[in-house]
Amino acid sequence: MNRVFMTAFLFVLLAGLFSAYEFYQNGHAEVQAGVDLRLGEKVYGENCVACHGEKGNGRGTSASTLKTKPRDFTTGIYKFHSTPSGSLPLDEDILRTISKGVRGTSMLAQLHLSQEERSAVVQYLKTLSPRFREQKPGPSISIPLRPHEDKGLISLGETLYKDAGCVSCHGSGGKGDGPSAEGLKDSWGFPIRPADLTLKPFKSGTDPEDFYRTLSTGLDGTPMPSYADSLTPDERWNLVYYILSIATHERPRGMMGLVGEETQGMMIDMRAAMAGMMGGRGMMRGGGGMMKRDMKEIMKDKMGR
Ligand code: HEC
Ligand code: HEC
Repeated sequence: MNRVFMTAFLFVLLAGLFSAYEFYQNGHAEVQAGVDLRLGEKVYGENCVACHGEKGNGRGTSASTLKTKPRDFTTGIYKFHSTPSGSLPLDEDILRTISKGVRGTSMLAQLHLSQEERSAVVQYLKTLSPRFREQKPGPSISIPLRPHEDKGLISLGETLYKDAGCVSCHGSGGKGDGPSAEGLKDSWGFPIRPADLTLKPFKSGTDPEDFYRTLSTGLDGTPMPSYADSLTPDERWNLVYYILSIATHERPRGMMGLVGEETQGMMIDMRAAMAGMMGGRGMMRGGGGMMKRDMKEIMKDKMGR
């Protein structure tokens, strides 16, 4: 492969990922049914294996280089879901994560995949854990209309933040340095720290509704509990406004505005795409076509061709 082509390819790929990132920032994702499992397996093999591993156990070849470890799908435990704490996620929850990514981690928005490909890979992920055959997800929690923000609500939220015990993990200033912050582990045995609530962007999204959901469902597999039973909807909204009021700092941004391990994720995604193009495993499985098609679309978008 000559150097001019390589440079052009890298440029186009970066441009594509950048537009995916911009798209994420505006946050759109529609859900669609009608799904092909073989397509899901192919999409997984070409786009997810490097991190999540061949068997879905989170031990892909790049996993050891990452601080926030890729999810082990075989346990069927999902952090991000709109269903009650401890419940399986809905399809649209998994789709939302794949479409939006997990901010600050190597899990980037997978918007180079079509809606059909993303829906297919959701179904494929569900085959990796027996939990999806044995259990049904609970109902989506309802997110009531948010009250009008005002100083009164924020100060009620500040009081609750102390009374509800957030301080023990997240610390009095929200920096993730509370007395219980050290030595925490997640369900997969990896060390985990309470989120620094003063720093944007957050993993689960930036809308007030995203915080409300996190407080209501907890983050399964992590020490972050659900407050659905102990706090009323109004109280949860007050906390949301308090968190938003202290989340005043932006995480340092690197290349193309990427934060934290997002840059590493970008490099890993690019290597996987290259392997697919140059006759790596993607090609051998009859893949690669997907990448070529994306290239064309990206070219059209970016260069008006
Ligand atoms: C560059 C590495 C990387 C690649 C490639 C990658 N992921 Fe991830 N993924 C991660 C990491 C790291 C996390 C964990 C984030 C966290 O726990 O905060 C994650 C988390 C997830 C989650 C969240 C599960 C939950 O707990 O709610 C889903 C779903 C997911 N990935 C699906 C995919 C799919 C599907 C693909 C391929 C189309 C993919 N990922 C590609 C690194 C990657
Ligand atoms: C037992 C420790 C613990 C307690 C108590 C706790 N949290 Fe957490 N919280 C965590 C951990 C750990 C995470 C990080 C999870 C991750 O990164 O996957 C987290 C994450 C979060 C997030 C998600 C941030 C993101 O990036 O999306 C929010 C919001 C949050 N906590 C708010 C609260 C609030 C408000 C309270 C009190 C009502 C609270 N937490 C109580 C441990 C705790």
